[in-house]
Amino acid sequence: MKLLEGKAVLVTGAGGGIGRDFALAMAAAGASVLVNDIGTSVKGEGSDAGPAQKVADEINDRFGGSGARAIANTDSVAHWESANNIVKTAVEAFGRLDVVVNNAGILRDRFFFNMSVEEWRAVIDVHLNGSFYVARAAAPHFKSQESGCYIHMTSTSGLVGNLGQANYSAAKLGIAGLSKSIALDMAKYHVRSNCISPFAWSRMIGSIPTETEDQKARVEKLKAMETAKIAPLAVFLASEEGRDVTGQIFAVRANEIFLMSQSRPLRSVHRAEGWTPETIGAHAIPALRAHFYPLERSQDVFSWDPL
Ligand code: NAI
Repeated sequence: MKLLEGKAVLVTGAGGGIGRDFALAMAAAGASVLVNDIGTSVKGEGSDAGPAQKVADEINDRFGGSGARAIANTDSVAHWESANNIVKTAVEAFGRLDVVVNNAGILRDRFFFNMSVEEWRAVIDVHLNGSFYVARAAAPHFKSQESGCYIHMTSTSGLVGNLGQANYSAAKLGIAGLSKSIALDMAKYHVRSNCISPFAWSRMIGSIPTETEDQKARVEKLKAMETAKIAPLAVFLASEEGRDVTGQIFAVRANEIFLMSQSRPLRSVHRAEGWTPETIGAHAIPALRAHFYPLERSQDVFSWDPL
């Protein structure tokens, strides 16, 4: 019996990149898959029904005979009504829903001091609000069937840091908080919720400049981070094998899988008489400073080549 035999999975943003490989791998593992994608640009401009349909057709061609089947859906995750329609379409087509993968995403990179309200809102709407809308729309089904699995895509841009991505970093760290809250609130209904922070060569990171020899060499190494390498962990989490894994944040980069830390106190200082601004400067800060985090970006922490 295949790992996801009989299960129904919904993958947002599955018309290309990492999401397409999620959809293909879930179907190969025996699941029925709703392939959602509005077919937009990296910036979230325009729409095209083609990508979602193409992936659904590919799944039906390759796996249709084994009982797996796929349907395409082009509703946006970024609005409550259309997000509800994604879930409704999956439930109506498959008669059930077992797994929600919140993967759809866009970028509107800009240094914070130049970022427009529109750029902020567009990214928050697709990533953070979209993840909430789709997850929330599926919650009544998961609650009543007393099972279900959420997989949300976060990013080291939020977990660690990155330049020029205030909107995206805030959304992706927000998604980590959303996932943990869902895991806590729905544990009693045997519903689990985890995050994956991927590193993968998709069109999203394909815009890195390749003018110098150094840049060309770097990009060649980044191409080793195939989008299909993220999918095995997602399939595991979606399966019964992953039933006791919840509230976690994983990162995947080519052949490496990481369990990421979650925020805990690092060190404390205490003065029985309480603190003044002066004693904080003279005592607390010197004691805590050794544990301060440097202003690191994702690439400073993941500083070695993908394996
Ligand atoms: P991608 O740009 O290839 O795929 C994103 C898909 O989402 C596109 O097909 C797009 O049409 C779709 N989409 C955008 N807005 C949508 C909306 N409102 N409703 C439905 N679909 C929508 O990007 P990639 O790299 O495959 O990214 C997938 C996820 O992984 C994203 O959440 C991204 O933030 C995350 N991620 C990717 C990393 C990477 O290294 N590629 C790094 C960290 C996170």
